[in-house]
Amino acid sequence: MNELICKIQELKKKKNAIILAHCYQNIEIDDVADYVGDSLYLSQMAAKTDADIIVFAGVYFMAQTAKILCPDKKVLLPDLKAGCAMADMINLQQLRNFKQKHPDIPTVCYINSTAEVKSECDICCTSSNAVKIVESLNTEKVLFAPDQNLGRWVEKQLGNVKVITYSGYCPIHHNITVQEVYTIKENHPDVKLLAHPECKEEVSALADYVGSTTGIMNFVKNSSENKFIIATEKGVVDRLKRDYPDKEFIIIKENLICDSMKLCSLQDIFNALNNETFEIEVNPDISKKAHKCIDRMLEVSTAGVK
Ligand code: 13P
Ligand code: SF4
Repeated sequence: MNELICKIQELKKKKNAIILAHCYQNIEIDDVADYVGDSLYLSQMAAKTDADIIVFAGVYFMAQTAKILCPDKKVLLPDLKAGCAMADMINLQQLRNFKQKHPDIPTVCYINSTAEVKSECDICCTSSNAVKIVESLNTEKVLFAPDQNLGRWVEKQLGNVKVITYSGYCPIHHNITVQEVYTIKENHPDVKLLAHPECKEEVSALADYVGSTTGIMNFVKNSSENKFIIATEKGVVDRLKRDYPDKEFIIIKENLICDSMKLCSLQDIFNALNNETFEIEVNPDISKKAHKCIDRMLEVSTAGVK
């Protein structure tokens, strides 16, 4: 085994630490990760771990969510520059203005948001449970922030709820155009398109399956077909190619890369564990309120509403 991997494994044992990795991370991170998956799965794993230290190989809001769920644990983000462009599109004041413009409507926030934003929303969601979460509110209208595309996709799935969306988006997914989809579909007729709901509404409408990163990987796992077009970040395609060497995966376009997700290397993981950096802290009052919003999501998510 590679020397660096051995050192990381030793440190994990010595410090009772776990490593959570999002599936957009550099694939080498999987060699040391305890859990690899989508945002929902990683927050569920953070919520139930009895480790003393959580190293989050992901972006800031993910580590912050883990800290909110486990306030007594040390949560480390290997590179503090690993932000999420979508989460940065709405701050607390902007959320308040959005709510003021549409008073008395329950507010759902995508997990890709800051602790402050979560602290003033009713319930949180991820891409894998957004439909179920909005449905659980049993209401005619909801406010949804920050992702306009996920919000619109939820509205379309439910059909009987008006989802009023904030204007945020993920620059990586939002950049995929319908024209690009048509071109690739023309070159690969009869090949199923699997897309993330952060894609534009018109792109999702052309997909055969829309779901979270884990959802897309599970779709491939359970399908007997051997060729797929993938519309999400390259990390998912890298893992699919590794796990299914006999199948073919066509990424909808080159450079579908989230630079923040790629900041973390094995060396950074080692440094984080060795130096116990960079520790994520959340203001306790904000954390308490944000905890409620995330907890509500976890409860609904496991309750089997749908
Ligand atoms: P998942 O819910 O699929 O993990 O998505 C998180 C994310 O940031 C996608 O861009
Ligand atoms: Fe944020 Fe988009 Fe990167 Fe996901 S892929 S972390 S939504 S910028």
